[in-house]
Amino acid sequence: MHKLGILLSGRGSNFLAIADSIASGRLRGCEIAAVVSNLADASGLAAARARGLNAVAIEARGRKRAEHDAEIIACLRQHHVDLVCLAGYMRLLSPGFVQAFPQRILNIHPSLLPAFPGLDAQLQAFEYGVQVSGCSVHFVDEQLDHGVIILQKAVPVLEGDDAPTLAARILAQEHIAYSEAIARVLSGRYEIVGRRYLLKP
Ligand code: GAR
Repeated sequence: MHKLGILLSGRGSNFLAIADSIASGRLRGCEIAAVVSNLADASGLAAARARGLNAVAIEARGRKRAEHDAEIIACLRQHHVDLVCLAGYMRLLSPGFVQAFPQRILNIHPSLLPAFPGLDAQLQAFEYGVQVSGCSVHFVDEQLDHGVIILQKAVPVLEGDDAPTLAARILAQEHIAYSEAIARVLSGRYEIVGRRYLLKP
């Protein structure tokens, strides 16, 4: 049984979508071993606790990034995590963190990468005037929103949209995409050629 470690900083709707996929049997062969937040008051952490999951706050305030990350790594190891899923985790990982879980850290980003990395991707896309946006699930490497893309889902930008309505349309796809990407990675039936993620039969 694979053990997922979820890192979040906010409401945790992507975490809850993953938890629901596992509970309903749509995502098999894994369980959530720990939910970790850099913010003790993240509502996603409370939601994890309410579901009886190991929910741990590891505050970053006043600490060096590497030191904070080392504590998170120790927590993930303690819970035997073998796949780390960033779900609205709004901190950059140190190189040491990325190296501790090689090709075993996933992130979801609310744009079609490489467009609009960084903060407020939906607002960036809306203001740029794109007519299609979406979300990307990718492996985490040492650069921001940069690792190999596992899967993307596109949504249209519609007449009458504003950034929040676009963000909501993207979020609905995020909730589907993340579990699909986790299943793909856990299946092991893929290879990475250059930057390309290729599914094997
Ligand atoms: C999601 O839209 C996720 O894609 C985004 O934060 C939101 C978290 O929502 N992540 C990033 O922007 C990372 N660069 P959630 O807490 O409800 O899952």
